[in-house]
Amino acid sequence: ARDYLVPSRVQPGHFYALPQSPQLYKQILMLSGFDRYFQIARCYRDEDLRADRQPEFTQVDEEMSFVSEDDIMTLNEGLIKRLWKEMLDVDVQTPFVRMPWDEAMGRFGSDKPDTRFGLEIQDVTEVFKGTEFKPFAAVLEAGGSIRAINAKGLADKLTRKNIDKLGDIAKTYGAKGLAYSRLTAEGTTSSFEKFLSDAEKSALYAALNAETGDVLLLVSDNDWVKACTALGQVRLDIARKHGLIDPDKFNFLWVVDFPLFEYSEQENRWMAMHHPFTLPKAEDLDKVESDPGACHAVAYDIVLNGVEMGGGSMRINDPALQDRMFHALGFTEEKARESFGFLMDAYKFGAPPHGGMAYGLDRMVMLMLKKDSIRDVIAFPKVQNAGEPMSGAPDVVDEKQLSDLSIALTLKD
Ligand code: AMO
Repeated sequence: ARDYLVPSRVQPGHFYALPQSPQLYKQILMLSGFDRYFQIARCYRDEDLRADRQPEFTQVDEEMSFVSEDDIMTLNEGLIKRLWKEMLDVDVQTPFVRMPWDEAMGRFGSDKPDTRFGLEIQDVTEVFKGTEFKPFAAVLEAGGSIRAINAKGLADKLTRKNIDKLGDIAKTYGAKGLAYSRLTAEGTTSSFEKFLSDAEKSALYAALNAETGDVLLLVSDNDWVKACTALGQVRLDIARKHGLIDPDKFNFLWVVDFPLFEYSEQENRWMAMHHPFTLPKAEDLDKVESDPGACHAVAYDIVLNGVEMGGGSMRINDPALQDRMFHALGFTEEKARESFGFLMDAYKFGAPPHGGMAYGLDRMVMLMLKKDSIRDVIAFPKVQNAGEPMSGAPDVVDEKQLSDLSIALTLKD
């Protein structure tokens, strides 16, 4: 997300950035000897709006010293248990499942899996080793993979037209297409079975436990994450449209072991998946420079019913490692100093092991009240164009206000 900037009147030409989160401040507090912190903090992020996102929102923010990620997760399970009991009279079972990111992506095609229903994704790559079906063969040759969902018993509901729409969803999420087989009592209609050998077909049916009445949906891609992400969205759409989700369930889980970095095609460099202060897993420390894509982080998200309700990490507390991280993220020494010098200086006096997390308070309330949009739990929310319709903000201001701030506007077309 981008920062919201506020011009300083007292220091012409200088700007405040409204906080995206109090991350650095809470770490500095740990370094200065406070070993427990929480704050209900207003946060601001200039990013595209979605059903669970607002430019201005509220975090319940926490940080602790001399703790491990287990301590943080256990403490927060207690918090959730108590909140759900007191606010909703719902008994939540703890501990929550802790699911590695790779598994969440592989089984659900999402780093915030909705586990209230099945329709899990399966890896059927092996079935097609040596296939003559060209699109799959090309993907396998490139080291890619083939993933599938069995929409069990949904052949009557998933007509050709519906499957085409699912194909459009898959494409929106980067898939080249959605291969399908519809197994009805009248026979099978399929986009690809005629290209398969009998052995391949029966291996596929066995792998997916396919029976009459099922619909098999497959995506192949050089990148398994892309294949799973596309199927993950198809999975959600089927579940929503065909009533597979029990609205009374509260399914909590932790997603853990996130990748440390993600590659940005736009920026042409590795970016921190959580933030640059997140601790790499001990076993990946020697790969930070040589193989960033293979590194995992000591980071965790708390997910409820397919929504990321909160997230956090253990932090780097070794200045040399923090330097390496900045370097791996493409910061020059100068830029790192300029942006985070105060933190790096503080580290030198000895930093305790520390970590924490933050909840989106509005998201939490939205989930408690079973609302579909965060707008339903915020007074005067912003709408799609990030405006606030009641007051008409953002708005133009008069010359005097601009001149007080030493600002002259040159609007781009
Ligand atoms: P993160 O960026 O994951 O982590 O944010 C924490 C939680 O804040 C909520 N959230 C939002 N809610 C509504 N609208 C938004 N635009 C929005 N953006 C985020 C989400 C999210 O899980 N400082 C770190 C936390 C840490 O490492 O301790 C942080 O801000 O529920």
